[in-house]
Amino acid sequence: MKKWMMVTGLLFVGVVVAQVASLAENIRAYASWTRVNVNKINTAGAHPLGKDVYVNLAPDRLLSTNGNYKLPFAQGTIFVKERVDPQTLQVTHIWVMQKRSNNAGDWAWAAYERKDNTIQGGNLADPVMCVGCHQQASATDQVFTQWGRR
Ligand code: HEC
Repeated sequence: MKKWMMVTGLLFVGVVVAQVASLAENIRAYASWTRVNVNKINTAGAHPLGKDVYVNLAPDRLLSTNGNYKLPFAQGTIFVKERVDPQTLQVTHIWVMQKRSNNAGDWAWAAYERKDNTIQGGNLADPVMCVGCHQQASATDQVFTQWGRR
């Protein structure tokens, strides 16, 4: 691991612990999970640029021997997408999808957003907007971000 990556990693952990105290318990440590992307995701679209995607599985549980995801994702799998403002380096948004069963497409959805010095949000009772778009990724159990080979 390169030194700047470690420094950046620590910075994010600091930001999370200090300012994301209202995140649900099961995702608080997301910055220490497996990062799915290699380089920051800077495509615009539904969510603004400056994004990283994390998953709560080690690569050996996440991937088959051919390097593709083991699908469908198992119950309890959590993907977190974090968006950091490139200027302030503050986390502005956190989006979450958590697998409710082993069935394809059965996710619970959550969204958090910075408001001043707090991060507010939580589970979405009616995530029709999220699902409507993520259905386009049905071939990979509604997850868009492919494993970044490294
Ligand atoms: C219009 C399309 C669209 C909508 C609406 C949308 N997303 Fe996404 N989402 C994406 C795309 C595309 C990605 C891949 C990363 C990127 O380019 O930002 C993504 C990535 C994610 C990820 C990381 C796992 C993955 O699929 O790559 C999570 C978690 C996520 N979105 C949660 C949500 C939640 C929660 C909502 C609703 C509040 C939502 N999304 C609404 C398009 C959408």
